[in-house]
Amino acid sequence: MADVLGFTARNPDAVMNYLHYHRADKTQYELECLRRANQIAVKGHLAAKNAFYNGASEFEIQQCYLLEIGQGENDVPYGNIVALNQNSAILHYTALEHTKPEQRLSFLIDAGANFHGYAADITRTYAFEKNRFYQLIVALNKVQLAIIEQMKPGVKYVDLHIATHEHIGQILVDFELATGTVEQLVVQGITSAFFPHGLGHMLGLQVHDMGGYAHDERGTHIAAPDAHPFLRCTRVLAANQVLTVEPGIYIIDSLLEQLSPSAKQMINWKTVDELRPFGGIRIEDNVIVHQNQVENMTREFGLVD
Ligand code: GLY
Ligand code: MN
Ligand code: MN
Repeated sequence: MADVLGFTARNPDAVMNYLHYHRADKTQYELECLRRANQIAVKGHLAAKNAFYNGASEFEIQQCYLLEIGQGENDVPYGNIVALNQNSAILHYTALEHTKPEQRLSFLIDAGANFHGYAADITRTYAFEKNRFYQLIVALNKVQLAIIEQMKPGVKYVDLHIATHEHIGQILVDFELATGTVEQLVVQGITSAFFPHGLGHMLGLQVHDMGGYAHDERGTHIAAPDAHPFLRCTRVLAANQVLTVEPGIYIIDSLLEQLSPSAKQMINWKTVDELRPFGGIRIEDNVIVHQNQVENMTREFGLVD
């Protein structure tokens, strides 16, 4: 049809570049849709947390979540990650086991909701008992809040990602997961083995919304730094942008095994062994950058820890 009408240039780059760049600048209507999506997802997260502490299986927790938010598997913006124990170290885990594990140690849930096509993308991690893993969650939660506090117009998202690595390096030392200086732990790729994904991404109609690498409306693309290839956003923050902030710490043997011999010597394998059955931690909130403040939609709707 387009050909019949004489359109030869469909989706011209100039148009797409302009749209992708400006999609990061949400309208008031879009911000309200994203708030509502968060409000719905938070209800589901609270129900899922309850189900975990009451002994449910992964499959049952998923059903509790979906029932609470009134959305089916095909309505939510992405396949929920509902992981008990060591499964929480599998980054895109979607198996949903029906059997309950013999021992209940930890729970990671990355689950969203949809409002008029706009997505929420929220993660929480819980420990069944108040142990060392629980303390690690508390420490990472503090880091996540400290990073969010730094979000304001003019700040480069890449700098926040790098600052997160430094915080995680300090956590590795504090929890005796590794030895050395924070700088060594970052440079030697040790923080990347424990935190292998990006700090977060733009959020909107798409979970990983467009425009994360766009630096102007002509399409100037700034890629992620070589040392951080999985970072999905290199933009300078500006008012009305909506992003996720999702630091993580995981015990992923295949990544630890790939470290250099000198880096491996800096790992405290005894602590790694102790924490391995707990899997990993991710804490993910959805925030709006305003001119003079940052609005944490996820926490403001009541998902406080
Ligand atoms: N749930 C997908 C993500 O966190 O990016
Ligand atoms: Mn997520
Ligand atoms: Mn995300």
